[in-house]
Amino acid sequence: MDLKETLLKYGFHFESDKDTEVIPKLDKFVHDILNEDLGSDGGDKQVVPFTQIVMDVMRQLEGAYALICKSPYYPNELVACKRGSPLLLGVKETGDMRTDINVESDLSAEGHHGKPKEYYLASDANAIVEHTRRVLVIEDNEVVHMNDGAVHIFKLDSDKSTRLLRPASVQRGLSTLEMEVEQIRKGNFVHFMQKEIHEQPDSLTMTMRGRLIRGGEQKAKGILLGGLKDHLRTIRRSRRILFIGCGTSYNAALAAIPVVEELSGIPVTMEIASDLLDRQGPIYREDTAIFVSQSGETADTLQALEYAKSNGALCVGITNTVGSAIARGTHFTKAYTSQIAMIVMLALALGDDSLSTQQRRNAIMDDLYNLPSKVRDVLKLDKDMKELAALLMDEQSLLVFGRGYNYATPMECALKVKEVSLMHAEGIVAGEMKHGPLALVDETLPIIVIATRDASLNKQQSVIQQLKTRKGRLIVMCTEGDAEFMCPDRTCRIIEVPKVQDCLQPIINIVRLQLLAYHLTVFRGFNVDQPRNLAKSVTTQ
Ligand code: F6R
Repeated sequence: MDLKETLLKYGFHFESDKDTEVIPKLDKFVHDILNEDLGSDGGDKQVVPFTQIVMDVMRQLEGAYALICKSPYYPNELVACKRGSPLLLGVKETGDMRTDINVESDLSAEGHHGKPKEYYLASDANAIVEHTRRVLVIEDNEVVHMNDGAVHIFKLDSDKSTRLLRPASVQRGLSTLEMEVEQIRKGNFVHFMQKEIHEQPDSLTMTMRGRLIRGGEQKAKGILLGGLKDHLRTIRRSRRILFIGCGTSYNAALAAIPVVEELSGIPVTMEIASDLLDRQGPIYREDTAIFVSQSGETADTLQALEYAKSNGALCVGITNTVGSAIARGTHFTKAYTSQIAMIVMLALALGDDSLSTQQRRNAIMDDLYNLPSKVRDVLKLDKDMKELAALLMDEQSLLVFGRGYNYATPMECALKVKEVSLMHAEGIVAGEMKHGPLALVDETLPIIVIATRDASLNKQQSVIQQLKTRKGRLIVMCTEGDAEFMCPDRTCRIIEVPKVQDCLQPIINIVRLQLLAYHLTVFRGFNVDQPRNLAKSVTTQ
């Protein structure tokens, strides 16, 4: 807004209300007006290198951006730069790929072996992987200059006095994307969301591969977290563990808190990244801050990471994007269900010096081992969830109640239903029901109550009873075989799920509810894979 006001004062006209429009106008401002004001001749654009114009504009900008700039004055050139937002440069050699490409010497139109190259610029690896897996992750304040097919990378020099000198170029090796092209295709599925839901047995298997160590007879015997093993002792000595994230990632950590507290014995707190920053909440050197982010690029989470680092906390990242800003920014380094599984493994690793919890840990590890096949069983119940979605599709609102190990399940169910089906939904901690939400209950509002077997089963039974007394329209999620026990008068619709260890039950339970959110969206006619107003990675604050 400040920049726009200045430009307006100098007579610039704007054709849109997008803040991005300020950027190309700044180019003209910096070179035609500011330089004149400073007494220099910024006039002849052919004399000023394109990279310098972009760098001059970057010096004026605050906030997060990734830009690709072209100009009619520089017909064979392209300049890209970034700060805060992600930017990747893909490099494809048309011919056999060499593996020793070095940015400075090898990013020319024809490599040493005379093979022509193709370059790709994108904010996300998904856009690049079908062309090449060789990428350079562009870092903040770097400027990529393409000229007649050759590429050079420069670092923005914030010292304005050196700006007419040729900036030093950056030397860095390319990295290889660890993803398959199939990951970005729908295969036999109609929607990506449907594919992601049904791929969870595989994503869970991959999350546990190499980390959950197998013993004999389908038993698991230990946890190995390579990136963390040298830090576990430090984490065990922390005064507090803070989990920090946004949206679904926040909910994943919320789901796993109980077992982290139980097995580590360390107090655990949760922070929504933006709220931590708003409050500038206290973080100490004795804290371990664990950042949870699927994309690894969420601006709020990244800023909270910088904040925790500057306060001296030990920072750990849980992300499913190798090479992302969070994977690179944390001291060492998968979807909702994988994130929960990962945090449960972290809890197991933290607790593995305690004999008293050995039996409990073994039971959790055995169930982790069998989790993918249990999730596969739940996915077979897709038709049941489609029928439920058909019943609920015209509703205005949905309430979801849970507690204890399933505190986060209603929150995540409501988030998904809101996000994709655009139906209002609210996740409520069942213990809070009588402190307000009970007033909403009538014969029409659908209410899902998560009441799978764990230590709070009796309390959930009483919740169901209270809701029934108010003639609530109940859908009860319970453990297989419990239908009669949970709702003897058969007035509730029942969703049954297989039983696993309490701390893993949220993984099983949410899969059923993801299917509900998916079918609700299809029935309501909304775009499943591109929810209204949302971006895949929230790289702005
Ligand atoms: C919901 C969703 C968002 C993200 C949130 C954080 O389906 O995807 O709530 O979880 O924007 O994103 P990450 O996990 O990439 O940091």
